[in-house]
Amino acid sequence: MTEAYLVEAVRTPVGRRGGGLAGVHPADLGAHVLTALMDRSDVDPAAIDDVIFGCVDAIGPQAGNIARTSWLAAGLPDAVPGVTVDRQCGSSQQALHFAAQAVMSGTADLVVAGGVQNMSAIPISAAMLAGRAYGFDDPFRGSTGWQRRYGDQEISQFRAAELIAAKWSLSRPEMEVYALSSHQKATAALAQGRFARETVPLGSCTTDEGPRPTTTLAAMAALPTLTPGGTVTAALASQISDGAAALLVASAQALHTHGLRPRARIHHLSVRADDPVYMLTGPIPATAHALRRSGLTIDDIDLIEINEAFVPVVLAWQRETGADPARVNIHGGAVALGHPLGATGARLMTTLLHALEDTGGRYGLQTMCEGGGTANVTIIERL
Ligand SMILES: CC(C)(COP(=O)(O)OP(=O)(O)OC[C@H]1O[C@@H](n2cnc3c(N)ncnc32)[C@H](O)[C@@H]1OP(=O)(O)O)[C@@H](O)C(=O)NCCC(=O)NCCS
Repeated sequence: MTEAYLVEAVRTPVGRRGGGLAGVHPADLGAHVLTALMDRSDVDPAAIDDVIFGCVDAIGPQAGNIARTSWLAAGLPDAVPGVTVDRQCGSSQQALHFAAQAVMSGTADLVVAGGVQNMSAIPISAAMLAGRAYGFDDPFRGSTGWQRRYGDQEISQFRAAELIAAKWSLSRPEMEVYALSSHQKATAALAQGRFARETVPLGSCTTDEGPRPTTTLAAMAALPTLTPGGTVTAALASQISDGAAALLVASAQALHTHGLRPRARIHHLSVRADDPVYMLTGPIPATAHALRRSGLTIDDIDLIEINEAFVPVVLAWQRETGADPARVNIHGGAVALGHPLGATGARLMTTLLHALEDTGGRYGLQTMCEGGGTANVTIIERL
């Protein structure tokens, strides 16, 4: 098997809903990071074998294979193909897996992986709700097989977050302490310029717009819960955001041919799944599987990026894995920085790579919960 290497990683700043990226067409968001990726790696774009992008709610301007549209909108060679994948919130982490697997299999040498999402333009769940015009309330109702297995119960990330908080006995104050730390870490990272190398400003969006430097435990405690009688509030959820990110994956042969410097090696990649009703617990079995398969322990991992879809997801995972909180989301997560669904997988990997370089760490692990109960895990070794 051929090794797969990470050569370059870039992202836009993450824009708030209605913020600096809201008016940017998703193809132009994608084109922006693709252009930066090609410029920074100084590779001949014609040598790219494929462009794999994650995107959720691929309707309207995100429909019709946004990977391909973004590449063409960037003015890059039309002989290079593109494909869009949907593994829900983990879509661009899956894009990276497919890119790395293509290289590992020896069928490709240079592959771009990334993702894009403009949630200001196309609201979350727009694709699911679009079916209503055709008589489908959601993706599940009307399937006899689904009905037989899961009945009519609500399938949603909001219910899942509450189920997890209840199962792991996570109190609202405990979750708010975590959320506050996410904002504090992201604010500090911005102040210290930790994201400067990885971000490519776009128009008026020059910095991550999500962090709330002035938020307090008291302000969070005053917010209403998202569901009556629940514990999860807007402050304990990932933010609605806009953004894009892209990664360049190369084989050893491509490193040699194109004179590229490998920055990390893909040490392990896998994907597992858990109960779709609990939906967001996938990272727990997925992390256990990845560590078992790779022969590493959680303490061998220097830095971890786990997506903060909701605070209870991270706290339940932390309890089950015993991960040292000091190594987890060291620059904050989606609670503060936002979660542009299809882009977040590549955004997290971009941040993980740069953070490993800044801290001198060796192994980095990324995992994300995903609609349907799935979860990807990627372990990289910094070189
Ligand atoms: C949770 C969610 C519904 C909240 O949406 P929203 O109500 O439009 O969110 P807002 O950012 O406007 O926040 C609501 C209020 O809480 C306040 N708030 C949010 N976070 C806060 C914080 N950390 N501190 C203080 N106040 C905060 C906002 O200021 C706002 O107050 P206002 O109404 O007085 O302006 C939305 O962010 C969401 O859907 N998140 C999850 C996305 C998702 O499911 N992704 C996939 C993961 S599985």
